[in-house]
Amino acid sequence: MSSLQLLLLGATLGLFGLIVSTEGMSNGRDDMKIEEVRKFTTVINPGCQVRFGVNCSALTNMTLLHIKSEGKTDCYHFLWSFIGAPTLLMARTSLNSTLNVNWDEMLEENVPTPSITFNPPALYSFGWSLVKIWIADDINDVVQLNQINQSMITGYQTKNFIWERFDNISYQNSTHLSYTLTAKKYIHYFNESKQVFDLGPDGYFKFTIRMKSSNGYSDVLPYMLYSENSTQVDIAFNDVQLNLTETDYPGHPRIGFKYLVVQGAHLKDLKNERMRLERTKTLDDEHTPGVFETLSVRTPILNKTDQSFIQWKPICYTGEVRDVIDSVDVWSYPLQNASSVNGDDNVQDSILYSYYGADVDSMLLEAVNISFGTQQDGFYNKTKHISWTYSTGFGEPPQDFVSTLVFIIIGIGLGIPALIIILSITYVLVKRLKQPRDDLLLGR
Ligand SMILES: *[C@@H]1O[C@H](CO)[C@@H](O)[C@H](O)[C@H]1NC(C)=O
Ligand SMILES: *[C@@H]1O[C@H](CO)[C@@H](O)[C@H](O)[C@H]1NC(C)=O
Ligand SMILES: *[C@@H]1O[C@H](CO)[C@@H](O)[C@H](O)[C@H]1NC(C)=O
Ligand SMILES: *[C@@H]1O[C@H](CO)[C@@H](O)[C@H](O)[C@H]1NC(C)=O
Ligand SMILES: *[C@@H]1O[C@H](CO)[C@@H](O)[C@H](O)[C@H]1NC(C)=O
Ligand SMILES: *[C@@H]1O[C@H](CO)[C@@H](O)[C@H](O)[C@H]1NC(C)=O
Ligand SMILES: *[C@@H]1O[C@H](CO)[C@@H](O)[C@H](O)[C@H]1NC(C)=O
Ligand SMILES: *[C@@H]1O[C@H](CO)[C@@H](O)[C@H](O)[C@H]1NC(C)=O
Ligand SMILES: *[C@@H]1O[C@H](CO)[C@@H](O)[C@H](O)[C@H]1NC(C)=O
Ligand SMILES: *[C@@H]1O[C@H](CO)[C@@H](O)[C@H](O)[C@H]1NC(C)=O
Ligand SMILES: *[C@@H]1O[C@H](CO)[C@@H](O)[C@H](O)[C@H]1NC(C)=O
Ligand SMILES: *[C@@H]1O[C@H](CO)[C@@H](O)[C@H](O)[C@H]1NC(C)=O
Repeated sequence: MSSLQLLLLGATLGLFGLIVSTEGMSNGRDDMKIEEVRKFTTVINPGCQVRFGVNCSALTNMTLLHIKSEGKTDCYHFLWSFIGAPTLLMARTSLNSTLNVNWDEMLEENVPTPSITFNPPALYSFGWSLVKIWIADDINDVVQLNQINQSMITGYQTKNFIWERFDNISYQNSTHLSYTLTAKKYIHYFNESKQVFDLGPDGYFKFTIRMKSSNGYSDVLPYMLYSENSTQVDIAFNDVQLNLTETDYPGHPRIGFKYLVVQGAHLKDLKNERMRLERTKTLDDEHTPGVFETLSVRTPILNKTDQSFIQWKPICYTGEVRDVIDSVDVWSYPLQNASSVNGDDNVQDSILYSYYGADVDSMLLEAVNISFGTQQDGFYNKTKHISWTYSTGFGEPPQDFVSTLVFIIIGIGLGIPALIIILSITYVLVKRLKQPRDDLLLGR
């Protein structure tokens, strides 16, 4: 290529940059329009009259939180349960649909008929439950759970945590809400009897649930996107000691979580479609410093419209106050086909079973495993803390967008050289045209 061609190519690329940048500015979604404002209403322990001699909504050690998010044409329900394994059941219903909970049946274990129902029934549903905590002894510092000797990994049932709701730090109105639940105790079963243990002197396991009826970025690291149709979940796992005897506590502990995820659709109607774990790469890390990847568990699309997701960044923080410096990796593993038919009966520990009943075994039900740590990070043992965030909701997982600022920077970076190149070309051409013709020939 001649130098003139190179110059022209450079100029074209530069101009393209300038165009992209102005396009970006006009499409810049920094101040996204809210087309439909959804309205939240919440009820604690809906339909429960009196338990333990107390008005149910005053009980802080039993929480079934019903969040209704009303739009113009339909209603999204987020039903959080801290009875049994921590669970979120999400459903889309018509506007006039009501939730009914048969409390006696729901509190009883393994009732195969649904005790949580909507009337008229839900048009779509999805749910997940955090059913197990994995504690692994990673003697060789290989980090990933599937590379650690399986006999070194113990699973603890999350249904045995005792959750306390903190109403003094919770808030809710029609557009914002936040609830915090903390477990400091765990039930251990010995033979036929059960005993309640503290999670250790500083041990706690905390869930913070946050929702906003608008779109944008969270102001907490890793600054994830939230949308009007999703909810963000912050988890803190601090100095939790689940060992029964001191000698059982591993010397090189790694922590992992097992989730069960279900979409309310029968396998036979799904034509072999499964959930999938999607990795999206981004070019810039302006929102989450150092992280160029987003992971999402996505469901098949039902009826051309209904789908859901769980989304996270592969990073977690090892301090109570989140800081980019104190972060380690989050690992994920291939999804597994889960159902009691396949020998996985954890779904019975959660309200997913109270809603779907025994029918859940013929639905799309998958196990998602996650674990935390980076090689040579000193194990969970070093700081004894993990703070992690994920978001979950209806529709497509939100995609990071490049902000106007970055577009301007790209525009300046590519546009100014382009201008210089164009000016140079013009200069050269004008100069050549002015030169005598034989000079030009001699030059060849
Ligand atoms: C329980 O308390 C809530 C809120 O304070 C109130 O709306 C409800 O009527 C009470 N229920 C009973 C059975 O007293
Ligand atoms: C919850 O609290 C009530 C009263 O505050 C108490 O009677 C009941 O035993 C507690 N339930 C559990 C499961 O701890
Ligand atoms: C709810 O509304 C739908 C129409 O939007 C109607 O067909 C149905 O009968 C209503 N159900 C109840 C329980 O009011
Ligand atoms: C896993 O650990 C068990 C018990 O310590 C041992 O018997 C077994 O050989 C180990 N397996 C591998 C693959 O190292
Ligand atoms: C909330 O209440 C708990 C006890 O119920 C207390 O330990 C905590 O300090 C309170 N938090 C705030 C911010 O008031
Ligand atoms: C709801 O609460 C949030 C946070 O406290 C506040 O910013 C917002 O203005 C409130 N919205 C309404 C409608 O009161
Ligand atoms: C459980 O039962 C066994 C045998 O009956 C007994 O040796 C053991 O002490 C019991 N454990 C507890 C914690 O009670
Ligand atoms: C939320 O859901 C409604 C449909 O109920 C849809 O119109 C809207 O675009 C969704 N918002 C986002 C950010 O996905
Ligand atoms: C678990 O092990 C640790 C470390 O050895 C010990 O300090 C703690 O007391 C143990 N916890 C229980 C509940 O036994
Ligand atoms: C935790 O880490 C310390 C220092 O890294 C180590 O000495 C200790 O053996 C580890 N295990 C326990 C259970 O504290
Ligand atoms: C799809 O939507 C239509 C109309 O809302 C409904 O009748 C039908 O049952 C839905 N099909 C599935 C598979 O959900
Ligand atoms: C999942 O398990 C169910 C029940 O055993 C089975 O019918 C289905 O074919 C399995 N799906 C896959 C993809 O293995």
